[in-house]
Amino acid sequence: MSRKKIIAGNWKMNIKPSETAALVKGVAEATKDFAGVDIVCCTPAIDIPAAVAAAAGTRVEIGAENAHWEEKGAFTGEISTGMLIDAGAKYVIIGHSERRQYFGETDETVNRRTRAVIASGLTAIVCVGETLEEREAGKLNEVIERQMNVGLKDVTAADCAKLVIAYEPVWAIGTGKTATPDQAQEVHALIRETLAKLVGAETAETVRIQYGGSMKPSNAAELLAKKDIDGGLIGGAALKAEDFAGIIAAAAQA
Ligand code: 13P
Repeated sequence: MSRKKIIAGNWKMNIKPSETAALVKGVAEATKDFAGVDIVCCTPAIDIPAAVAAAAGTRVEIGAENAHWEEKGAFTGEISTGMLIDAGAKYVIIGHSERRQYFGETDETVNRRTRAVIASGLTAIVCVGETLEEREAGKLNEVIERQMNVGLKDVTAADCAKLVIAYEPVWAIGTGKTATPDQAQEVHALIRETLAKLVGAETAETVRIQYGGSMKPSNAAELLAKKDIDGGLIGGAALKAEDFAGIIAAAAQA
């Protein structure tokens, strides 16, 4: 099964609207020869219009960093999938560990958001991953299986066309510590096995699983060479067009 590689940047809370066009255009320009890789910039909601305008006519697609499960109503501060679609976004990151850690995101709210995103026609990038404490306590498998089973409850095989999963070990995010390619592959295989139990093995083979956590041009190739690593979700290195393009170049050769 050959899955198209997907490299997505997660800008987090880092780039202003006035800085957005330059970064998106820089990425588009530096990666125009790398057909065969899906390229996504997930930006703060307020940057999306500028990002979509800058990406027009290029292979770069734009995503959001979160979405609410209700279509509209009294939810101050939230953004709906309909608003994101209207603004031109195509992807939404759901359940990032920073949202779980700082904003009360749970596996149950991840599930509600994920189902709403997929139902809207946007593609959900659903994040899972263990903390260092959980890994050291021998709970890695249990945590990943729970995040998958609850987070993806009632997601069907047909829904998987609009699903990407990101494995982000919390201890590797923004720390400079990367999971070794073998460590990452082991968890990616577990994610695929767990998904197979939910939607069937054949469908699970089609779903792309990204690695995220201190991925950079110098370590991308060895991670992306692994059987079940189908792309990357990139934080720090997505904030400079040159670094992000270096990872996309590695994906184009993997
Ligand atoms: P870093 O690449 O900065 O470690 O962040 C990874 C991440 O959290 C992407 O969602």
